[in-house]
Amino acid sequence: MFDTRISRRAALMGAGAVAAWMHNPARAMLWQAAALPVPAFIDALIAKMTLAEKAGQLTLMPSAWGGGVATALNPASNGPNFDGQLEEVRQGRLTGVFNGNGAEMARRMQTAAMTQSRLKIPLIFAADVIHGHRTIFPVPVGEAASFEPGLAERTARMAAYEAAASGIDWTFAPMVDIARDQRWGRTMEGAGEDVLLGRLIADARVRGFQGKDLKDNDAVLACAKHFAAYGAAEAGLDYNTVDISERTLREIYLPPFKAAVDAGVLSFMASFNEISGVPSTGNSWLMETVLRGEWGFKGFVVSDYTGDMEMIDHGFAADAREAAKLAFLAGVDMSMTSGFYRDHLPDLVEKGEVPVARLDASVRTVLAMKARLGLFEDPFRRIDLKREKARSRTKPALALAREAGRKSIVMIKNDGDLLPLPKSGKKIALIGPFASGSDSLNGPWVVYGDNAQAIDLATGVKAAVADRSLITVVQGSTVEAPLPGGIEAAVAAAREADIVVLAIGESEGMSGEAQSRAEIIVPEPQQALAEAVAAVGKPVVIVLKNGRALALKGAVVNAPSILVTWFLGSESGHAIADILFGDYSPSGRLPCSFPRSLGQQPYSYAHKPTGRPNPSETQLEPYKAHYRGIPNSALFPFGHGLTYGKFEYSDLSVAPTLAWDGELTVSAKVTNTGKRAAEELVQLYTHDRAASVTRPVRELKAFRKVTLAPGASEVVTFKIRRDLLLFIGRENKPTVEPGLFDVWVSPSAETQGVRGSFELKGA
Ligand code: BGC
Repeated sequence: MFDTRISRRAALMGAGAVAAWMHNPARAMLWQAAALPVPAFIDALIAKMTLAEKAGQLTLMPSAWGGGVATALNPASNGPNFDGQLEEVRQGRLTGVFNGNGAEMARRMQTAAMTQSRLKIPLIFAADVIHGHRTIFPVPVGEAASFEPGLAERTARMAAYEAAASGIDWTFAPMVDIARDQRWGRTMEGAGEDVLLGRLIADARVRGFQGKDLKDNDAVLACAKHFAAYGAAEAGLDYNTVDISERTLREIYLPPFKAAVDAGVLSFMASFNEISGVPSTGNSWLMETVLRGEWGFKGFVVSDYTGDMEMIDHGFAADAREAAKLAFLAGVDMSMTSGFYRDHLPDLVEKGEVPVARLDASVRTVLAMKARLGLFEDPFRRIDLKREKARSRTKPALALAREAGRKSIVMIKNDGDLLPLPKSGKKIALIGPFASGSDSLNGPWVVYGDNAQAIDLATGVKAAVADRSLITVVQGSTVEAPLPGGIEAAVAAAREADIVVLAIGESEGMSGEAQSRAEIIVPEPQQALAEAVAAVGKPVVIVLKNGRALALKGAVVNAPSILVTWFLGSESGHAIADILFGDYSPSGRLPCSFPRSLGQQPYSYAHKPTGRPNPSETQLEPYKAHYRGIPNSALFPFGHGLTYGKFEYSDLSVAPTLAWDGELTVSAKVTNTGKRAAEELVQLYTHDRAASVTRPVRELKAFRKVTLAPGASEVVTFKIRRDLLLFIGRENKPTVEPGLFDVWVSPSAETQGVRGSFELKGA
């Protein structure tokens, strides 16, 4: 980060400095390492291309077709209409478009490229297929709550199967940004706060999207985004400044990206934010030194939306031309939306400010990728109107959405075993803005799914119970404003009922891009509804809709049962009903900690101890690290989640020493002392007691799921080797040091479970 290789000043010094840098042997080696297998015809093709056509291959634009949701997801771009865009295709000024709509659009554009453009280079079609295409799966943070990378792989596979039938070659997913500040709205799009979980989910989703072979007509190119540290925005404000140490960057924010590279991801998206004064889009240290140099990435990097243009507002580039030059020389191969590469790269090359070899290298990578996707062999391989219909919302896809939905739900509270509810004999009042109706079922970042096709809570509940006439549905409040007479109607319904299910929380417009919230609470009108309903005195189950962790208070947090249900997509109502009525025992766990108070942000269970750790949650000592009246811990920590069983941890066994090249076994007995079979997520945490760089109070190292019948036990075993204890040391390199380690096998990041220690012996 601090050795920017080609600094802004060097880039601006002109051709001489750039040429010298280009001929630097280290730089040449980077290029070799980064080369993708290139079919022979590609260099012949490049030889025929004009500078304008080359720049065109590095220019991606929002689709001008249709409009609708796709255009609402980003700021307006002032490109031409669809006919104008077809003309750009004929002139070879576009490499492809994104967030267009369907196979018919792709067919018309690809036909123009293949029959009317000079060089007949196929277009690439991209889209934000973030959590499903037409069948919508839970938002990624919800799916991460399953702690089941295999599930994330299967939903990504299914999304690719549907999307690839709609003409889509490339998805802008997975987003692998770690999110430790819940004010940040894009928490919903990643795997939460933890590095290990983030790595595993990144790996799974890349494999799922890309399938066995990128040429297959059910595979799409994945894109790891947003590189890098986009989730570390100051104060959780989207797009805001990031200022972190290289160590933190390498230890927390980069590992999921590295996992994506190791899984074979072949495109990356640069992030909007700056890191320590350098916008990612202009950061050659990130893209050249780390991504291509250290990790051997062989694909291409695309800017995020107008990322190159935004370097002007960052105050890093003086104008459009300079922005194009800085982004390109920093390693961004393709420009999205701004048109800056199309407008300025030819001139920059002609004036010797950008070497033509460098331009050719990026064009070669992009064309090689189009070849890898099979587009030169058959530009229409993913464009088939019949297939598009046949693959849309199939039975297996919807069944997978229901499975993913119920595995994403986290039961964070269930006092007195209120849940599961009986399917007959009880009157249930279903209250709240999310009790019924198609609002906010799919969640943020859905381009092609339709909320009207998704199953709402009322439909799910009515399908599950024996007698629908016992279910009353009352809205009570809108999401952010009181509803006239709403509370009165809700209170009346609660009085008549035996049980209240209160469906409240955030709408899908309240999280996602640009939706930072200063107050991560249930909106006040809904809190008032919860207070009024609770005062009736009937048992209340809270069904929370949310794209981030929330600071729960009052009647919401005091309700006996709380289900965290995120945005579950197509099968929302059925998935929630499966849990409510006990057809499935909750198995999800929080991938992000729910704080005690909204002021505790950013927060992660893996925080540092400080020099004055407070001794315990119940004892707040003066001059120790805590807020006034609030311990520095989560109310519902990372990893927390209850089931319809009851699990006890005992009999920890851990050898006292781990030899330098040895392996240590940690085991604990887990017993289901409850009355129902359930699945427990058994988690292994460690803490390095003294190291040359201070270490977090706990770090997740492994987890395993066990399903146990009532009364059954299992000894769960983990292996620890030295490499599991690595951290980023003083020199910003992975290191491990001998010494004492604490170890926990526990049901969450902040419960004791069973605890022991061991010593890593030096070599
Ligand atoms: C987002 C990206 C997205 C792109 C294209 C940007 O605003 O940050 O995640 O892929 O738009 O829709």
